[in-house]
This record gives sequence, C-alpha cells and structure tokens, in this order.
Amino acid sequence: MTARVRAGVLVSGGGTNLQALIDACAAPGFPAEIAVVISNVAEAFALERARKAGIATAVIDHKAFPSRDEFEAALVARLREHRADLVCLAGFMRLLGGTFLRQFPSRVLNIHPALLPAFPGLHGPRQALDYGVKIAGCTVHLVDEGTDTGPVVAQAAVPVLADDDEAKLAARILAEEHRLYPLALRWVAEGRLTIEGRKARVEAPPVAEGLSLRNPGR
Ligand code: GRF
Repeated sequence: MTARVRAGVLVSGGGTNLQALIDACAAPGFPAEIAVVISNVAEAFALERARKAGIATAVIDHKAFPSRDEFEAALVARLREHRADLVCLAGFMRLLGGTFLRQFPSRVLNIHPALLPAFPGLHGPRQALDYGVKIAGCTVHLVDEGTDTGPVVAQAAVPVLADDDEAKLAARILAEEHRLYPLALRWVAEGRLTIEGRKARVEAPPVAEGLSLRNPGR
C-alpha cells in the first residue's frame, strides 16, 4: 500500500470543514490522512473535533509571538514535527506570508465561501447578496501572499434565491464546501495538480453538480 499524504490542518473556529476532511480521510482508500490540527485559538471547537477523532492537536497563539515571521516559523516547526506534506487552511483566520508559504510551495490549500476572484476577504456570502449576483459558491485555491488570490483548484456553485438572507446563503454554500474540500484534497493527494504559470491545472472531471438549479434547496 502506498503511503498516504499527510495533511496538517490549520483552524481558528468551529471546524465544520475540518470535520468534512476528517470524515473523508476515514473512508477506506482515501489518499490523505490528517497528521495534526493546529489552532491559533485555544477555545476553537475544531480542536474538540480533532481530539474526538484521535488526531494530534496543537495551539499556537499568534499573540504569543513578537512578529508574524516568528509565529509562522512556529507553525512550520510543528507541521514538520508531524511530517506534514501539505497544509489545509480550514477557517484559519490569519494571513500567511512568505516565511510559511516558502516551506510548502504550492502545497497550501484554502477554502473560501465565494466564487473567486469575486468577493475575496471576509463575509463572502454577504458580499454576494449585497452585490446581487444570482450564482454564489465556494472555491478551493492554493494560498499565495495575497488575500484569496492564489490559483483556483476547484469551485462549486449554488443559486442565490429570492428570499435568501446571509445565513441561508452561507449555509447553502457551506454544504458545498463540505463536499468540495475533500474532493480537492483527494485530487492534490493523488498528484493530479500541476502549476502552469499562475494557474492550477487539475487532471480531474469538473465539479458541475453544484451548478444545477433544478434542486436549489441543497
Ligand atoms: C468557511 O466559511 C470557510 O469557507 C471559511 O471559513 C469558514 C470556516 O468554517 N474559510 P468552519 O470552521 O469550517 O465551520
């Protein structure tokens, strides 16, 4: 049996995306496993989810470090300790710079609740509603030093409905996130991803299901 790719997951909050990754990794034959879950927030419920699944956890509080570089170096050291091959950000609320990203070139993934490049930064669903778009969704992308600017790996779309408020739309998008992130991790772990200039090329079928408007309740 070939060794599974070891993912380190960085979290700050509730961790429903982490849970989706934990559940995916538990399936027989999934090509990745979670080596460690690290949070910058000691109270993050995501840590509970990891502990319950028997996954190693660590708290590295950015406030305990005099500079971002030192915080990032501590994150890298802990990920190395757990022999992480790649990193998944799952609701990790700190921007990462070169000190971190140079250690995992094209190996840091993030999930964002909007169809990038539209609506980067905070409150993707609210931005989509405020703009009045009719299709919203989520994006898994490689992380670069910008805010949600790295190469797109996978996207899933959901309709914006007439009676949507932010909570309803965010919930519909989140359900797609839970489907998309494990899929993207699978593709990366299977080596289906190559970088061409600023684009990520993925040798895998497109994720079109989420675009269907026939079942807008999903
Ligand atoms: C999700 O909306 C994700 O898109 C964004 O942060 C949120 C994390 O939620 N990056 P959870 O902690 O995974 O539930």
